[in-house]
Amino acid sequence: MIPPGSTVGVFGSGQLGRMLALSAKRMGYRVEVFSPDAGTPAGSVADAEHVAAYTDLDAVTAFGKRVDVVTLEFENVPVTAVEAAAIYAPVRPGWRVLYTAQNRLREKTFLAQHGLPTLLFRPIRRPADLELAGRELGYPAVLKTAGFGYDGKGQRVVRTLGEAKAAFAELSSECVLEAFVDFAREVSVVAARGENGSFIHFAPAENRHANHILDVSLAPAELPAAVAARVVALTREIMASLEVIGVLCVEFFVTERGEVLVNELAPRPHNSGHLTIEACDVSQFEAQLRAVCGLPLIQPTQRPAAMVNLLGDVWARGEPDWASLLTESEVALHLYGKAEARPGRKMGHVTALAKTPQLAAERALRARLKLTEA
Ligand SMILES: Nc1ncnc2c1ncn2[C@@H]1O[C@H](COP(=O)(O)OP(=O)(O)O)[C@@H](O)[C@H]1O
Ligand SMILES: [Mg+2]
Repeated sequence: MIPPGSTVGVFGSGQLGRMLALSAKRMGYRVEVFSPDAGTPAGSVADAEHVAAYTDLDAVTAFGKRVDVVTLEFENVPVTAVEAAAIYAPVRPGWRVLYTAQNRLREKTFLAQHGLPTLLFRPIRRPADLELAGRELGYPAVLKTAGFGYDGKGQRVVRTLGEAKAAFAELSSECVLEAFVDFAREVSVVAARGENGSFIHFAPAENRHANHILDVSLAPAELPAAVAARVVALTREIMASLEVIGVLCVEFFVTERGEVLVNELAPRPHNSGHLTIEACDVSQFEAQLRAVCGLPLIQPTQRPAAMVNLLGDVWARGEPDWASLLTESEVALHLYGKAEARPGRKMGHVTALAKTPQLAAERALRARLKLTEA
């Protein structure tokens, strides 16, 4: 066990690292973050912020020597960095789940090989691959870069072979072509797994996207009991086969007929789990801390809640009217301390609690609307 008072190292320094650091510091841990950027959301609340490239293995090694355990809040940390740090401190989760989740082709191949339900997909390495793949999957389809995609970046919906070829030329790297899924709902499950195989999970969240960026999450998602049980069981199976120690989120598409497909994996806390800070006795961030430090994991209690993201767009007409939001009860404001409010950039979020997840979503949306109404 890595007890309170120890030092937790974090690869990555965005808002997920910030919320992890706040949770860890409450429990008496020291937190040091490592990323290529300075003055970051996590760095400004951590005990130390190390600024170096992930490929600077001397810096990574020095970081590994300073801390008692390393976790991450960003899944694109190179496996070489994980290996260099792991000589001096356990890195949780380890390279295996990162290597799989860093690349959509490897991720989908892993899912297919383990008999886990996922979307139909084909690797696209050269323009000619699109011809057969497009015929086999049909249109519309979604072309995505295999690596480094997030918040809808690096993906295009394509309706014809011509559009697919144009999109491939534009994305200009290894891609995956996916069948377009006409899903009824998107849901996600955030769960934690300990070194001894212990497993806990949060209630499935329903996620609504706007412009491919998460806009609203509400939990518990309104799902038939069998579907809710299935998404949790799949999450547990995925985490066990990848031997994850830490937190992982699985994003699912659920069709009208109740069919469940895995969309993607995130081996870290997830935007759809932010509401667990107010809704649960143990949040997704405390669950990550407990899992990577070998503390007991307990199944969280959870109240109905909803979260809405605050993108930079909210600042378009100047400083938002914070007082209007802060006069609401059962509404919590989170800001990540980012200086520049660019459109599409995640600046913060609002969580609301209520009797039902739907009412919580209405409350959170109303609070967000009031920010810009003045
Ligand atoms: N094959 C697909 N069919 C239908 N919608 C999709 C498909 N792939 C992605 N989307 C939509 O775009 C969103 C973002 O895609 P995702 O693969 O999760 O990438 P990321 O979250 O890494 O940007 C999804 O949550 C979903 O709303
Ligand atoms: Mg996604």
